[in-house]
Amino acid sequence: MNVLVTGAAGYIGSHTVVELLAAGHTVTGVDDFSLGKRCAAERISAVSGQAVRIVELDLRSTPGVDALLAVGNFDAIIHLAGRKFVGESVDDPVLYFDRNIGTSIPLFRAAQQHGVRKIVFSSSCTVYGNPEHLPVTEESPLAPVTPYGFTKLAIEQLLSDLCVSTPELDVIALRYFNPIGAHPSGLLGEYVDGKPNNLLPYIMKVASGELPYFSLFGDDYDTEDGSCVRDYVHVEDIARGHVAALEALDDGRRGFRAINLGTGTGRSVLEMLEACRNATQHHIPTQVHPRRDGDAKEIFADPQRAAEEIGWKAERTLKEMCQDHWHFTVSATKRGRKKDEAISN
Ligand code: WQD
Repeated sequence: MNVLVTGAAGYIGSHTVVELLAAGHTVTGVDDFSLGKRCAAERISAVSGQAVRIVELDLRSTPGVDALLAVGNFDAIIHLAGRKFVGESVDDPVLYFDRNIGTSIPLFRAAQQHGVRKIVFSSSCTVYGNPEHLPVTEESPLAPVTPYGFTKLAIEQLLSDLCVSTPELDVIALRYFNPIGAHPSGLLGEYVDGKPNNLLPYIMKVASGELPYFSLFGDDYDTEDGSCVRDYVHVEDIARGHVAALEALDDGRRGFRAINLGTGTGRSVLEMLEACRNATQHHIPTQVHPRRDGDAKEIFADPQRAAEEIGWKAERTLKEMCQDHWHFTVSATKRGRKKDEAISN
């Protein structure tokens, strides 16, 4: 299929483009490079052996998006563009409504006008908020507790409503759990400039000596070891999930579906710290800090619908997730922080 991938220069986007190319799809990327890096197209080509175009465009520009879709003749859109840091969204909700919802509306309007009838959307497990019952299925209550989670749910709702007003529209919203890891080449990954928001990039910067210690946001939760539990999933598994969802949109079904992309296994922050100590062979000094606003105590997926409906199951192990993330961190450091416009989300 001829696919438009928004956010193609980002962490999830760059890995997804590699998998789409490997599956034989034609890909055009679009990115505003506010988070994704300009070296992404070159890195994707180096990894995939195929050239790819990533158009620089702010999706909030209706004329720009319209012009792109008018000539693109796209069969499908995979919409990944947006910001994804839970903590940041609590500090700056306007940024999240602007960048997540503000970029989706012109895109969906243009898709309607130019006859694009298949959409895969990057949603998030944060739409479940702080679940009472685990594991979460796609039928679990939708109760986001952060602006980030709320924007993802609002866009899901918009897509669901569009499927009612445009019956031939076919949409799958992929609710990612916690993507970590990197492409084994060490060329694609999540190397965030400055202090990272997310767990693995932060731990890896401590292991590489860039940051002095890791701050554990709360060790007094009502969990086995007192730290929060998440469902960490290799970014390459997440990328494969997009290909599986795209190809499932060809099954003739119409309408809106949400699908969890998780392993089904919950792991605590302290367990992740131990796994990273093993992968990096570094001590990773840690200090306990107060809880972070917006953090759910525990969440992990029931991945059954993904297996049944799109034939997807996470395959990579925790050890591979941590080793690949560390290999990318070391490779990026070796390439030199300044010159290495590494892929970050
Ligand atoms: C994980 C745990 C923190 C940093 C992420 C993505 C979001 C979505 C869901 C896709 C929490 C703890 C973290 C640190 C810490 N994925 N932590 N010290 O908040 O679950 O959200 O997954 O849509 O995009 O952001 O991930 O990595 O920020 O936190 O103790 O320095 O690690 O408290 O318990 P989160 P995270």
